[in-house]
Formats: sequence, structure tokens, C-alpha cells
Amino acid sequence: MTSNQKALRGRAISFSGNPFERPPAECLVHHEDALILVEDGRITAFGPYADLAATLPPGVEPVHYPDAILTAGFIDTHVHYPQLEMIGAYGAQLLEWLETYTFVTEQRFADRAHADRVAGHFLRELLRAGTTTAMVYCTVHPQSVEAFFAESERFNTRMIAGKVLMDRHAPPALLDTAQRGYDESKALIARWHGRGRQHYCVTPRFAPTSTEAQLDAAGALLREHDAVFMQTHLCENLAEVAWVRELFPERSSYLDTYDHAGLVGQRSMFGHAIHMHEADFHRCHEAGAALAFCPTSNLFLGSGLFQLFDAMDPARPVRVGLGTDVGGGTSLSQLQSLNEAYKVVAMSGRKLDAVRAFYLATLGGARALYLDDRLGRLAPGYDADIAVLDPKGTPLLDFRTRHCDTLEELLFVLMTLGDDRAVRATYVAGECVYDRSRAGDPFRYPARV
Ligand code: GUN
Ligand code: ZN
Repeated sequence: MTSNQKALRGRAISFSGNPFERPPAECLVHHEDALILVEDGRITAFGPYADLAATLPPGVEPVHYPDAILTAGFIDTHVHYPQLEMIGAYGAQLLEWLETYTFVTEQRFADRAHADRVAGHFLRELLRAGTTTAMVYCTVHPQSVEAFFAESERFNTRMIAGKVLMDRHAPPALLDTAQRGYDESKALIARWHGRGRQHYCVTPRFAPTSTEAQLDAAGALLREHDAVFMQTHLCENLAEVAWVRELFPERSSYLDTYDHAGLVGQRSMFGHAIHMHEADFHRCHEAGAALAFCPTSNLFLGSGLFQLFDAMDPARPVRVGLGTDVGGGTSLSQLQSLNEAYKVVAMSGRKLDAVRAFYLATLGGARALYLDDRLGRLAPGYDADIAVLDPKGTPLLDFRTRHCDTLEELLFVLMTLGDDRAVRATYVAGECVYDRSRAGDPFRYPARV
């Protein structure tokens, strides 16, 4: 054996296809007793223990999780790490919430030490929730990006993040200019994009806080760099949509403000996308752009109900990932996002079954990010980013899951009642970076502060 070989054993789920396009049962891979072999951070084999046990390298003893469910780590396609400090802020819809809470909180990230502290907390909370990859907004300050990627690099997590671009309609301390935002983003791309498992994301906050010149500069950044990502907000709130119409009277839609600047394409992620027209979905489908469904946030801020099955219409399916959108969202747990997603979908008379739900939180997110060749599945060649779920994680889960007859029912109860307490351990590139039962600090790397 070499020290970079490992094995995990337990009940496991994964996906072999998209359950929004094919019958869900055909897409779910399930082994009652699975073995996952890992070498150098990648999965080398995944299948029934009985079939694979003989291939275990000598000296490699599987870590056995007999009562757990192993899954690919969760993927959060829309979240703001600086807003962890203001999660659960009372009483406002989007635009007032931004002024009252968000823009106040984000000013503190001019201080690198502060950014380091919050990035440390944020990353640990993600891992505690079983999330191993996220697409993350930092603040307008380049040091907020440095702090985030530095912490991510320590844990070796695959993260996508970027400096917020804002050159109008925000407090002066949070504004850059089109040129400065471009220059600072370019320098951050040079420093971080493709370094280890870090990816850069060009991040115009949303059309109201960027001039057309800044949106154009963001488009130039995308054209000039290979495989960088783009994230922004779209059609979240009716007052916001009306404001964009006033600010960009010459554009045919909110989406068109971004499209005109070259921001709608593969690796573009639009957060919320609630108040969409058919033409918008059609354009996203055609361009290969993705939408982030952020149910806890959309409900908390009173923004509206994302039309998941409209977005996924097989006639012109749009890629959709699941986002927590903390601090607009109320939990970093993707199980809690799924709990609320089920209710949002139910309001439109449809049902989100557990197989589709877990797909959204794993392989669906990876597909939305064009990372589905390496993330989102338990399969040979995939990164060994794994969440170990505990169906007995709370007394109520323990009690309730005794009455589950099928795997689908068990997964559904997990997503309805589960949160970070239903995560027993989290593996990143094959390393156990979080273990709830570890004495002292459950995280592999101690907090810096
Ligand atoms: N729109 C522009 N900025 C934000 C933000 O920080 N959070 C949410 N939910 N929507 C936004
Ligand atoms: Zn957001």
C-alpha cells in the first residue's frame, strides 16, 4: 500500500444519468454495502463490497460506516461567504435588505484579518453540512478573495469564487470602477485560477450595481481567460426587475443586460431566476447558461417561487443547480435547501422526489458548473469528495427512519428532517476533513483564529 490509498465502506448512492430526463429509478445507483477505493484524491473503484473486496490493496483497511449513506459531497451553486455574519436578518425584501444589512456587513471585509476569520468559519460550516464545492461571492475587496481561496487551499476543497464588481448604487466604500474592477479581477485570476482546486469566477453583483462599462469589462475578462466562471443575480425580486428596466431601457429584458455584455454562456450561473419569461429560459438553454435555485432565500426574502419544472422543460432544458444563498438563505445545509425546494415545487402542483432532489444537490450542480466530469458522482475517475450522511443524526430522524421501507423514503425523510446534524463526516479529495465524532476539533485543520 502507498499512504495515498484509502477505502470507505458503507451503503452508498450515486447517479448514472439525469433523472429529470430519464426515469429517476434508472438514474440512481445504489449499493447496500459499497466499497469506494481512493488513490491520490480520486476514486479508482466504486461498487458492491462483495465484488471489490478482493481488489483492496494489501494493508488498506476500509473505514466502515455501517449505518450511514455515502454520497458525493453536496454542491452549493450560489452563496455569499461574507454574509454568514448576517444570516437571518429580520424584516426586509431584497433591495432594503441589501441597504440595511448586506452593504453594512460587507464593508468590514476591507480588513484582511476579518475576512480570514469569516472565511474560516464559513468553510467549516460548509464542510459540517457535507458541502464540498461551492460557487461563492466574496466582497468588492480583493483581500476578501485572498482570504477565501487561502482557506480553501488549506482544506484542498474545489471552490469557485470571485471579487464582487460594483461601480454604482452602493456605499462609496464598496465601489470600484470598471477599470479597477477589471484590473483587480485580472490579478486575482492570474494568482488563483487553476491553482490546485481553485477556480476564479467573474462576479458582477447584479445589473443595478454595475454600469454598462463594468458589465462590458466583465465580458472582456471572460473572453480573455480560459474556463473562468461568471456569477450574478437575475430576476430575483419584482422591484429589482422594475429597477433594471428603468436603468437599461434599451435592453429587451433583464437577462439581455448581461447577454449584451457577453455574460450569458457556458459556466455562467444566474442566481434566483424567479421572474423569468419563456424567452429567457430559451436563451439560457441555447447558451448553456445555468440557474441557481435558492429556495430558503427566495422564501426568506419573500422573492417568489422558482419554477423548477419550467426551467427543466425537456423541450429546452436549462441547467439548474441548488444554492443556499446565505445570508439571504437561512441554512448552509443543502438538505435544508431540498426541504424548502420540495415545498416550493409543491406550490406549483408538482412534486420533487428524493432521487431528483439528491441529483440537484450533487451531479445536477456539477453539470450546471460544467464540472460533471470530475464532481457529483461516486465513480472511477471522480474526485473523492464524499459526504457521510447519518440517518439517525437527530433523535427524531432516528425515530422516523425506523419506519422507512424504501431507499427513496429514507432519502426523502433525510432531506425533510436533516441538516448538518445528519452529516457524520466529510471527505475532500480523499481526506477526512470533518469528523463529527473526532475528539476536540472535528476539523482536520484548526481555525487560524
Ligand atoms: N442581489 C444583489 N446582491 C444580492 C445579494 O447579496 N443577495 C441576494 N439574495 N440577492 C442579491
Ligand atoms: Zn445571492
